[in-house]
Amino acid sequence: MNIIVAKDYKEMSQAASQMIEEQITKKPDAVLGLATGGTPLGTYKELIRSYKEGRADYRFLSTINLDEYVGLDPEHHQSYRYFMNQNFFQFINIDKKNTYIPYGKTEGLEQECRRYEEVIDTVGPPDLQLLGIGENGHIGFNEPGTSFDSETHIVHLTHSTREANARFFESMEDVPTKAITMGIRSIMKSKKIILLASGERKADAICQLIHGEPDEQFPASSLKNHDDLTLIVDEDAYKKVQRKG
Ligand code: PGA
Repeated sequence: MNIIVAKDYKEMSQAASQMIEEQITKKPDAVLGLATGGTPLGTYKELIRSYKEGRADYRFLSTINLDEYVGLDPEHHQSYRYFMNQNFFQFINIDKKNTYIPYGKTEGLEQECRRYEEVIDTVGPPDLQLLGIGENGHIGFNEPGTSFDSETHIVHLTHSTREANARFFESMEDVPTKAITMGIRSIMKSKKIILLASGERKADAICQLIHGEPDEQFPASSLKNHDDLTLIVDEDAYKKVQRKG
């Protein structure tokens, strides 16, 4: 595991964006695994800047996102498809056809899971997967207890995850109760993984990730079995690791 400790959120985002840019330069038709949430937003901003400065070309690139809410239309403002379009895709020269996100507004959820895993296997697996981490160690929507053998599947969201996301919805009742997520095994198929964490809120999770053993009760710990994992964390998220020595 490589660990990069950045000074703050901005430096963390710059470090991640630089690694992604290097990947695109090395392989213009690379496949990027992407994530939503507050953490990668700064990385997308940096990537948009580098695109505008002519340092990256997305014409031949494909992207595969981790997850999507069940029941939300792609146009819904809280859908992850909308998030990606608004915060990244609309600003770069990527062909939308090459951007993959699970489709949550379907009756055939099991079939959608199988289709998505096939996308990962045929379009992907990603050359580089960007990940955030939940305070409880979740990656994607894989909550504690998810099997390390899981592929793309349907998740019933825990109360705490729904509460954490409720700030984006008008009321708690509007927060979806289910999501489609790449499983742990699906994520592990990626050739290279970058996990980002910023802020004191993530300090316990980063400490556990670095010091703990792989354990299904802490989904991110599965990544310790990956042979090309880079953690990019800021000083606040790394605080507890330092204290423990
Ligand atoms: P955040 O979410 O980036 O909004 O903190 C990360 C996650 O829960 O995976």
